Amino acid sequence: MKYTHHNNELTLKDINQKVILKGWVQKSRNLGGLIFVDLRDRFGITQLVIKPENKHYEAALTLRSEFVIEAEGVVVERESKNHQIKTGEIEIEVSSLTILSRALTPPMSVLDDSDALEETRLKYRYLDLRRPVMQNYLIKRHQIVQEIRNVLVEEGYLEIETPILGKSTPEGARDYLVPSRLYEGQFYALPQSPQIYKQLFMVAGFEKYFQVAKCFRDEDLRADRQPEFTQIDIEASFIEPIDIQEVTEKILKNTFKKVLDIDIKTPFKRMAYKDAMALYGSDKPDTRFDLLIEDFKPMFEGIDVPLFNGKDEIRGIRVQQAAHLSRKQMDKLGALVKKHHGDALAFIKKQNNEVKGSILKFLSTEDIDKFNLSDEELICFVPGKLDDVLQSLGALRLELGQQFNLIDPNRYDFLWVVDWPLLEYDEEEQRFYAKHHPFTAPSDLEVFKTNPKAAMADAYDIVLNGYEIGGGSLRIHNQEVQSLMFETLGLSDEDVKERFGFFVDALKYGTPPHGGLALGLDRIVMLMTHTNNIKDVIAFPKTQSAKDQMMKAPSLVDEEQMKELHIKVGD
Ligand code: AMO
Repeated sequence: MKYTHHNNELTLKDINQKVILKGWVQKSRNLGGLIFVDLRDRFGITQLVIKPENKHYEAALTLRSEFVIEAEGVVVERESKNHQIKTGEIEIEVSSLTILSRALTPPMSVLDDSDALEETRLKYRYLDLRRPVMQNYLIKRHQIVQEIRNVLVEEGYLEIETPILGKSTPEGARDYLVPSRLYEGQFYALPQSPQIYKQLFMVAGFEKYFQVAKCFRDEDLRADRQPEFTQIDIEASFIEPIDIQEVTEKILKNTFKKVLDIDIKTPFKRMAYKDAMALYGSDKPDTRFDLLIEDFKPMFEGIDVPLFNGKDEIRGIRVQQAAHLSRKQMDKLGALVKKHHGDALAFIKKQNNEVKGSILKFLSTEDIDKFNLSDEELICFVPGKLDDVLQSLGALRLELGQQFNLIDPNRYDFLWVVDWPLLEYDEEEQRFYAKHHPFTAPSDLEVFKTNPKAAMADAYDIVLNGYEIGGGSLRIHNQEVQSLMFETLGLSDEDVKERFGFFVDALKYGTPPHGGLALGLDRIVMLMTHTNNIKDVIAFPKTQSAKDQMMKAPSLVDEEQMKELHIKVGD
């Protein structure tokens, strides 16, 4: 029989109603002959009570956690009420009870505060996903995707799918490859993003495209990175960056309002890449707190600190009320700086109006005065090469922000990082890399042609609370410029023909100026649900070492399959 209500619905106003409920046994207990059952479904919990005279009493005695049951009965007022849950004032006096499915003792508790190890949770993901907290993540994910779709459809974007079996798309990670059975020794690549396909949609004249797209990247995993993730992929023709930025803001504003009832302010702030790096030591700055990086090199002019001698840069951060940090704590911060390639961490501080610090003995009283230390202030200095100094101070800043509770976890700080360099030059390898991807348009063609190191891009990243939640750009829509870009990136004519010949050809047949962006859906859901682990918002994620713990993938396959695919594995 069909259930009449979900388990979060019945209240005092339903007294005496005959109802049918279904769900899982959260808990069953025998109190002085009466059997009480907490019945759970994805909506909530209702208490059932089965009396000894009930003809189903024997069956009720066998109930264990996670059995699936159907109960018919009458809504009655509870004697001892539970005001924590919506149905806490009533219970169901059961007349008929059916066990629909028995359950083994679960290897982990199906409660929000389960203390199961991650390994167990991933192995028994279907039980982990029964926990209300996990269900909430995926329900929110569903709502977020629907709201994003609503805005894009309303704005005239067409949702079109693109292939999973394709050819390598250069987004900077390793490809996942799929061997071909029909073509010996040849492979499909899973898309790192639908970048090329979506640009071809523009060539094909669709004008506004979007897709909830699966992307695959074989790269080192982190708390905000999965090998298989989802993008909200967007592309449009005849637009400027502002058009893409505005539709993105509209999507986020609507989604935050509808899903979280939070009003976010648009337009979002904008910051040049150069400033983000110089002030925050990051291209995805967490702007919820200050602790900005300062250039101290001019102040050390004429001061002989051996640690700083011959270094390109000396930059640092002032931290108020931090002079009490112990030697051990400073050593820990020093280790963090080194881990992020900083040369060393030096400091001065004023504690109880006395100046102390690791480089104090090299400073005269006048030198010290220049730093204008206030009481309880700490200044951290990192010497070294610019990139290393900024990167390590960026990491230090985040650590200090956390240690000193400067970050409001309930705040959402959106930021556009704009004015990106087009290319990055690797001094060691003596070659250029694309800062975003090789389809990003240079802002000024002449500069790109004559001085590629100085070329800037019409690119924009969107950052939320220190996470990169999306990125995009205007694209190259001219075949010659695209060829020049491939050449600048060191691809031979042959490589270009072999890998991207079809794409360069497509650009020759009338390509509209176009651009777009992709949002990282998983990261957005993660931030909107206040978890810091991307695995929580993906139904069946991979472990940190890219394994599916439940299915045991990757796995060996049959000899026969290998033969068909023309694959031999070495010893
Ligand atoms: P990009 O590589 O910046 O751009 O990716 C867009 C967004 O996708 C998210 N993301 C990830 N999320 C989880 N796990 C990962 N491994 C992962 N990698 C990326 C990030 C990121 O901002 N084709 C371009 C977009 C464009 O130019 O339109 C692209 O893929 O939130």
